[in-house]
Amino acid sequence: MTSYERWTLRTEHTSYTVRLSPDGPWAELDAWGPLGVEDGPSALDWSHRTHFITPADAAPAEYLPYGLRPFTGAELVAARPGEDRGVWWEFDGAEQNADGLRLTFTDNATGLRTTLCYAAVPCTDVILRWTELTCTGDGELRLERFDSGAVNVPITSGARLTYLAGQWSQEFTRTQLQLERGTFTMGSRQGAPGHAYAPWMAIQDGALSDGDITPTYGIALEWPGNWHITAEAEPGGSVRVRAGRVPHEGAVLLAPGETLVTPRLACAFSPSGLDGLSRVWHRYERRLSGARLHRPRKVLYNSWEATGFDVEAAGQLELAKAAADIGTELFVVDDGWFTGRSDDTAGLGDWHPDPAAFPDGFGRFVDDVRFLGMDFGLWVEPEAVSPGSRLYAEHPEWVYRIEGRPDRLVRNQLLLDLGRTDVQDFVIGTLDRLLGTYDIGYLKWDMNRPPTERGRPGAGPADRLDLDAGHVAGYLRVLDHLREAHPEVIIEGCAGGGGRIEHATIARTDVVWPSDNTAPLDRLAIQFGFLHAHAPHVMSSWVTDAPGVFDPRPRSLAFRFVTAMCGVLGIGADLRAWTPGQRAEAATWITRYKEVRDVIHHGEARLLGTPDDRTCGVQYDTGERTVVAALSTGRLDGAPLVPGRPDRLRLRGLDPAARYRDTATGTAYGGAHLLHHGLPFAWSAAHDADLVVLRRE
Ligand code: DGJ
Repeated sequence: MTSYERWTLRTEHTSYTVRLSPDGPWAELDAWGPLGVEDGPSALDWSHRTHFITPADAAPAEYLPYGLRPFTGAELVAARPGEDRGVWWEFDGAEQNADGLRLTFTDNATGLRTTLCYAAVPCTDVILRWTELTCTGDGELRLERFDSGAVNVPITSGARLTYLAGQWSQEFTRTQLQLERGTFTMGSRQGAPGHAYAPWMAIQDGALSDGDITPTYGIALEWPGNWHITAEAEPGGSVRVRAGRVPHEGAVLLAPGETLVTPRLACAFSPSGLDGLSRVWHRYERRLSGARLHRPRKVLYNSWEATGFDVEAAGQLELAKAAADIGTELFVVDDGWFTGRSDDTAGLGDWHPDPAAFPDGFGRFVDDVRFLGMDFGLWVEPEAVSPGSRLYAEHPEWVYRIEGRPDRLVRNQLLLDLGRTDVQDFVIGTLDRLLGTYDIGYLKWDMNRPPTERGRPGAGPADRLDLDAGHVAGYLRVLDHLREAHPEVIIEGCAGGGGRIEHATIARTDVVWPSDNTAPLDRLAIQFGFLHAHAPHVMSSWVTDAPGVFDPRPRSLAFRFVTAMCGVLGIGADLRAWTPGQRAEAATWITRYKEVRDVIHHGEARLLGTPDDRTCGVQYDTGERTVVAALSTGRLDGAPLVPGRPDRLRLRGLDPAARYRDTATGTAYGGAHLLHHGLPFAWSAAHDADLVVLRRE
């Protein structure tokens, strides 16, 4: 056993042990896994491996600066302006208490103090890591890289990386990669996490297939700005994963006395494969939601797909009436309600209801919706501004711009510099006015335009300004204000679909919108990926019209309902065109959903199979009740999907000795039967989805 100084953080089922390296002044990972894994010599110990490299280059270091680690990649690159880059620090002490661990390293030459911070999150298997960088000298410091942390994942055969990739309308597609040597990087420079990759990764030993007993490590970065996660395969078969912010403007300057706190990196472990890891993240996100988790998420109707920008009182009320009749509890008016917004070329910034669209006044319209027994919700895009708006005419200096360079439009709009306090105050004032004037119980916050020219006129070059962090701070300040000043208002986070979904947003909103794509089979794949990283209670999902705007593959109304019921159910279809039969079926599904939504949002969720299987689903358990959303992905050309014999979906996590009764059919099953053979489903062209509710006897 080592006699080096070691510190262990414990979660409910896992432990994470860090030690001071025997080879130099840095912290390195000693053990990470199930409780007790630290009891023995470190499986990561590579000390004294110095041929052609330095010990620091080979170390499973938690965080190292360029300088100390010259060759194999550093988490920190810093210098005094005009001087050589590099930091050579000394260990300055450790503090461990009930809240966590802090390890401090100091470099006298640059005056940089670096503290590695750790906290175990109660009632979860998540360890949070972040780094605090303080300029203690009398000259400023230039930071070119300042990751949150690095972790050498304790595997031995290279890695299978699982990540969530895609593009607009295809977010969260589960993607896998075998990494034996080399480097894999993903991230975003769009001032938001972006649609291409989620700031989340799962890592498993490359030699083991995913299953119930596969040790699985995961990380997720809490940062709604520019970011990266990089995995580098090491010669010994381990993989070093680094994550953090990206100073897209070149560098960040740290003034004397200033401390930069990096985003938090959440590190999770499950001994039970990707499915087990997903439950660790679900539990963590339930904790992030706090007391707001317990407010029932109401069934929503959103008119965007039905009316687009063609928003006017009579048409909206007709939809609201139809929505109320089938049992929806909340009516949301999306884009198009404010002056000048007849398409996406104008209106943003001038947040006043269009009097032509609401001739009796917007307040009266909201009251009419409320009179139908529904809450009222409103769409806003507070960071955006249209070039022809009054706001832009009055405050051209409020948008990001580089002096002397053209304004570039994305979706015909510009982006407000939310790092400015006056812009934050304008946004807060606008939202307070809308929420104070009208009876609004739900706000959908959208963002459809990433920052392009990152500059603040008159403030000097952007590499002195840290605009990315400024925008993030402004965004979070406004969200925090909303929660504080309007605690009863439900907030939906959206960025052209799922462009800004990460833990800082999830902690400050109630639900998020994973994708604009609601076509049934596409949505199934998006939600399957999403649920690997995020909890069902934050996943907003709508039933829309078939065949839909993205994917023409037909699916029944039942399929669309069961898919949307896997998270927070909403309706986005043009109900005016639905037949009485369709409306009656919808009402039945909504009633069934209301009966089980507490199980879906608070229970333990398990992903059953994948959308590539003939039958897949999601299982939710509270112990008493088990809800299974089962979906058939096979052919729908009229032929039976599985000729002669029902398809089966094996359940998980049940008590093999208990009996479970289907509350709809009365059929009873032994737990062992459901675990071993599974629930039977006789799929046909007309029957391609089911929701089964089992009660434990
Ligand atoms: C993008 C969002 O993702 C959609 O749901 C919708 O709100 C549109 N913007 C409105 O412009």
